[in-house]
Amino acid sequence: MSLRLGIHDLSLATTSFVVQLDDLAAYAGVDPDKYRLGLGQEQMSVPGADEDIVTMAARAAAPILERHGVDGIRTLYVATESGVDQSKSAAVFVHSLLGLPSSCRAVELKQACYSGTAALQAALGQIARSPEDRVLVISADIARYALDSAAEVTQGAAAVAMLVSADPALVELESATGIYTAEVDDFWRPNDSSTALVDGKLSVDAYIDAYLGAWDDYRAHGGVPIEQIDRFCHHQPFTRMAAKAQRALAEHVGAEIDEARHLGSTRYNRRIGNSYTASLYAGLASLLDGDDDLTGARIGLYSYGSGSIGEFLAGRVVPGYRDHGRAAATLAALDTRTTLSIEQYRALHAGAAIGSVQDVTIAPVSSGPFHFTGVTGRARHYRR
Ligand code: HMG
Repeated sequence: MSLRLGIHDLSLATTSFVVQLDDLAAYAGVDPDKYRLGLGQEQMSVPGADEDIVTMAARAAAPILERHGVDGIRTLYVATESGVDQSKSAAVFVHSLLGLPSSCRAVELKQACYSGTAALQAALGQIARSPEDRVLVISADIARYALDSAAEVTQGAAAVAMLVSADPALVELESATGIYTAEVDDFWRPNDSSTALVDGKLSVDAYIDAYLGAWDDYRAHGGVPIEQIDRFCHHQPFTRMAAKAQRALAEHVGAEIDEARHLGSTRYNRRIGNSYTASLYAGLASLLDGDDDLTGARIGLYSYGSGSIGEFLAGRVVPGYRDHGRAAATLAALDTRTTLSIEQYRALHAGAAIGSVQDVTIAPVSSGPFHFTGVTGRARHYRR
């Protein structure tokens, strides 16, 4: 019998602060429907001064370790494009905050919003070789663009932790996968910039080109036809992007467009904003936490990272998956964020790039259990 491999548990965390996009629209003199309907966004998560991808990643993973312990976890991957150091991986900081054993390796992966999927694939390969191992995969990002740019409204932040194992309790991943890699300057962040640069229209086209290319490769490698996929879940830089992608795929394969097949995956993302590597898996959390009983359903997952890589894969929802839901915890995390005024948000944004040259102590301001405490001797420090 072949091994069943996939996602055994999944947990989402975001920041302690939020901007209401109606407030941003009023400030920018834009019709709020452009954000609500045109982009499909209502809010965006914003980190406090003591929050970053390390604190979010640890916050996402802590409930998984409380439920399952650390036995057998021999690898931690942190996928991010918001790295906190050019050399030391964010995963080593997270490893320490979570109290993982020294026998667990800790590595960071990068390829824009895509690397969480690369980490997931690496984890599946490792477990296929050593089925008793479990791998902790955490995707964590802060989407930050320049103030007053067209992309500003598509910022956000979140982390999703997944425990990947044999005999998974949530989603069993199928082996067929489709990949599309093409070099394109649609979005990037130079080493000396704390905000991303983007060609918005080109990025939308590149996302769709990679979707169709990955789909064709998926079909060529044994993937099922579109009718056999019950729900779709996409990387969501803004949730209307998922609708654009589905329309393009339906036209590409000559199928009917069925909005109901992807809408369930947009619920959390509308309130978080773009969370880069975490966005696709926040969409999966939305879908699994929704009202529909998805037992046995096949979910198609589209991962996109600018620059660019697209990958399409699919998995089956495992019977009993609802016993492991985290909807109440996720909704509480979203509902208890503190709303920032636009002035507070702009001040926080402007002060985000603290650098490492000056020693600095950061007071705890966020509600989570993990805090960035500052920089001494050019090194970052954290505390639980
Ligand atoms: P924009 O130029 O401000 O917006 O930029 P627009 O004028 O294109 O309007 C957006 C939509 O709102 C349009 O709908 C308008 O019609 C509609 P569409 O034609 O697209 O269907 N609209 C309205 N609807 C209702 N009522 C109104 C109204 N007004 C207008 N009153 C853009 C939008 C997304 C380009 C910008 O925000 C941006 O550059 N964002 C960042 C880039 C991005 O998110 N790209 C997505 C694909 S690339 C990707 O996903 C990778 C990424 O996550 C990074 C990574 O991989 O690491 C970004």
